[in-house]
Amino acid sequence: MLTVDTSKAGAFLTLPYEDALAPHLTRAANWLQNGGGKGDDFIGWVRLPENYDRDEFARIEKAAKKIQSDSQALVVIGIGGSYLGARGVIECLGSPNYNLRKKATPNVYFMGNGLSSAATREVYDLVKDVDFSVNVISKSGTTTEPAVAFRFFKELLEQKYGKAEAAKRIYATTDKARGALKSLADAEGYETFVVPDDVGGRYSVLTAVGLLPIAVAGIDVGELMGGAADMMVKCRDNDFTNPAWQYAAMRNELYRSGKKIELLACFEPSFRFMAEWWKQLYGESEGKDNRGIFPASVDFTADLHSMGQYIQQGERILMETVVRFDPDDDQMVVGLDEVNGDGLNFLAGKTLHEINTQAMDGTLLAHVEGGVPNMIVRAGKRGARELGALIYFFEYACGLSGYLLGVNPFDQPGVEAYKKNMFALLGKPGYEAMGDELRAKLAK
Ligand code: PA5
Repeated sequence: MLTVDTSKAGAFLTLPYEDALAPHLTRAANWLQNGGGKGDDFIGWVRLPENYDRDEFARIEKAAKKIQSDSQALVVIGIGGSYLGARGVIECLGSPNYNLRKKATPNVYFMGNGLSSAATREVYDLVKDVDFSVNVISKSGTTTEPAVAFRFFKELLEQKYGKAEAAKRIYATTDKARGALKSLADAEGYETFVVPDDVGGRYSVLTAVGLLPIAVAGIDVGELMGGAADMMVKCRDNDFTNPAWQYAAMRNELYRSGKKIELLACFEPSFRFMAEWWKQLYGESEGKDNRGIFPASVDFTADLHSMGQYIQQGERILMETVVRFDPDDDQMVVGLDEVNGDGLNFLAGKTLHEINTQAMDGTLLAHVEGGVPNMIVRAGKRGARELGALIYFFEYACGLSGYLLGVNPFDQPGVEAYKKNMFALLGKPGYEAMGDELRAKLAK
């Protein structure tokens, strides 16, 4: 079971905080469980692991099998909460090199998460001569980046297979009733999956948003949900035995003491996109009303050779949370070299995990001595069940943490500002006056 170790962070706080925070955490937990807090129309994810739609889940697994049987590639089109969770899970449990591996499942390409012509062209060329399917994901159904990408890949599918067959290879994950994507899917006859009304984008990885691409990659989505359900039960404990309480309370206290940036670190490179998912979850949930910890991430040990200097000796505004996994079964072992020209024979016979663990402990001690409080999240094995638990843990702690901070952890009003400007500059009907105003500003 996942545990949180705050023993190397507590020393940075001068006063005990548990008793003082417990009533606030109890109130926050009550808002998450029963509503009554800010944004409580978006707390559907709290009970999702026990009350998800079983019929839709079966359709997801069936669609995944069909895609595995008729496609060499799946193009997953989405951005933000409609992108990062699926990529995080596939890379963490598969590999960042998933597409390069010899395997029985299709390659998975993520598109619509930007507006780069080069990136779009590259995937377009990679899939145009193979059998492929598309999963277009947008809760609102109106987000520009995925809508633009979908135009390209829909057209390619229709050229390749004809309109009717293309429609059988397009899976739309969107609102159950509203939005341009839902209307298009109904008109064209695409199979659709639902992003529930009460689940916001960044909390949606355990809905069809994440589950379909994850299942296509051959990951056991039942285990993922099972792990989330285990953690959901644990998170109902309203006391400091609850790991989400420990984490939410500690990071809030550290923030109040001046630690404004939280680094999420992991010593497994496959965790990189889980960290990207975490950054959106925490950044979008807490960064508002001129408040909030800035979430950043580092890949260790690589970033110890680039960011390590700042972490050790830069401005003392950092806290660090390290996700640690138990060793994978198939460990590389360092060999003995007769000549020992590199002087590394003292490592002979050790697994890379043993060496990595000493790097973790050495880094922990160095950073704590350098003034960076350190929390450790022990996530168990790098498996579907454990990752499901980790996802739910971070989501629940995020809800608690946002409420402790006094913000609405479930809205994202700030995301609209750039969209409005972009629409105005692109000449979207209805934005003409604003477009003139912005062009005048740019010309100054
Ligand atoms: O968390 C959020 O709500 C956002 O990041 C969205 O996930 C992102 O903007 C994509 O939105 P949509 O799924 O509506 O296309």
